[in-house]
Amino acid sequence: MSVLENEKRVNLASLSIDELEKMAQVRRPKPVPSNLERSNYELPEEYRDVSRGKRYYIRTYGCQMNEHDTEMMSGLLEGMGYQQAGEIESADVILFNTCAVRENAEDKVFGEIGRLRPLKVQNPELILGLCGCMAQEKGVQKFVLDKFPWVDVVFGTHNIHRLPELVMTAKNSQDTILEVWDKAAATVEDIPKVRKQETRAWVNIQYGCNKFCTYCIVPYTRGAERSRMPEDIVQEVSQLAAQGYKEITLLGQNVNDYGVDLGTVTFAKLLRLVNDVKGIERIRFTTSNPWNFTDELIDAIAECEHVVEHIHLPVQSGNNEVLKKMNRTHTREYYLSLVDKIRHKIPGVSLTTDIIVGFPGETDEQFEDTLSLVAQVKYDNAFTFIYSPRENTPAAKFEDGVSQETKKQRLQRLNELQYAVSLERNQTMQGQVVDVLVEGPSKTNQEVLAGRTRTNKLVLFEGPLELSGGLAQVAVTEPQTWLLKGELVSRHKEALV
Ligand code: 5AD
Ligand code: SF4
Repeated sequence: MSVLENEKRVNLASLSIDELEKMAQVRRPKPVPSNLERSNYELPEEYRDVSRGKRYYIRTYGCQMNEHDTEMMSGLLEGMGYQQAGEIESADVILFNTCAVRENAEDKVFGEIGRLRPLKVQNPELILGLCGCMAQEKGVQKFVLDKFPWVDVVFGTHNIHRLPELVMTAKNSQDTILEVWDKAAATVEDIPKVRKQETRAWVNIQYGCNKFCTYCIVPYTRGAERSRMPEDIVQEVSQLAAQGYKEITLLGQNVNDYGVDLGTVTFAKLLRLVNDVKGIERIRFTTSNPWNFTDELIDAIAECEHVVEHIHLPVQSGNNEVLKKMNRTHTREYYLSLVDKIRHKIPGVSLTTDIIVGFPGETDEQFEDTLSLVAQVKYDNAFTFIYSPRENTPAAKFEDGVSQETKKQRLQRLNELQYAVSLERNQTMQGQVVDVLVEGPSKTNQEVLAGRTRTNKLVLFEGPLELSGGLAQVAVTEPQTWLLKGELVSRHKEALV
């Protein structure tokens, strides 16, 4: 195992993490002081089509940001001539695009990499890579180099565009190639993308996070907040509209902070710019946290006809002391007043959230505050998690007397409450006629079509296949906890033109 150091190979197995870090720096770019640095990607001529006839397989874990990164890796590999493999066993390049937010996701990846060893023995030409957020962790780098010598390449979240060169270097090397950058050198535009869906597309607007919630590893794995230039975003959205995409989701860890680093534009202004792009029916965004949720922003969401009435508004806890220990910088009261304001200005808005139970030292009373907040807000849906200690985050050092069993029981109680609330919210939609952007046959039942309302509710209904990719009006006949069953009322022909 080695990293390339001016073409010299160095044995890594015996090195400490500090030493490893120094080695990794050999291949990092010099830090660039400005967030505004921007470059245009072009696949180097020597890599174009070099792998014609070969296949790739990417397994993706975690959030939409990772899903979208996978679309870029696919674009880069297809530029090299690779085609997507149907199953992992037939691939010549396998990448694990990983998530570091919770420990169980990491354990799964290690298990998978372990199981792939026989494939590598059968086919020594196979290139096996680890990338994404886990790859940014020094401990993971060391662990992989120590325990999984059959991994060929490790690269991080800041140098995805280097994939073609890394694959070629790994192909010609007996050693594990490690290239992880601490921070982004520039915002790289025009990386080719192979998008997974035909109707809905993701668009990055901002990278990184400056918030440092004490439980969270993301600021360490994704770096400081950087905004893309508004004209680059509008151009990408216009291209997507021209290609026939109907819905876009603007992605960032803290979209409300979009533009703060640029100084010339706000997220509200960006929404208005994107709203003016002809042909895009629906504009979603995630994640908007409770801070910096200005009146200007609420007004933009309310006034832009294509910006949908759905806000994912992570709360994490309903107790002020826990929120403080989490460094969330919002209180329960502030959050509830924000919810009131949003509901008042955006009628029919659906609200979803993220909640962590079992944060170190969380008492029964503090947990009850989370339950009461959930009962009060009545979220349409909630993503709920048991706290998972992450190495080198402040909360990992907090004292925690709460047993895992108690944490599991809290999660179950919270989920039971939320399921009841979700059902109650959906039942209010009985008989309503909703606009559905039809995705195609349902994954669980090919006989029915599946699509989403503007409020992001899944709707299943019977209808002709050619409705896929367009808008339809559906009457809700059977609301359930997770989805709405309905009957087709009419197609929205005019909206499809
Ligand atoms: N443990 C459990 N959940 C976490 N999240 C982030 N970090 C952790 C952690 N260490 C959750 C938060 C966040 C969502 C994406 O993941 O709820 O909003
Ligand atoms: Fe993590 Fe907090 Fe940043 Fe979200 S806002 S990515 S929870 S640090």
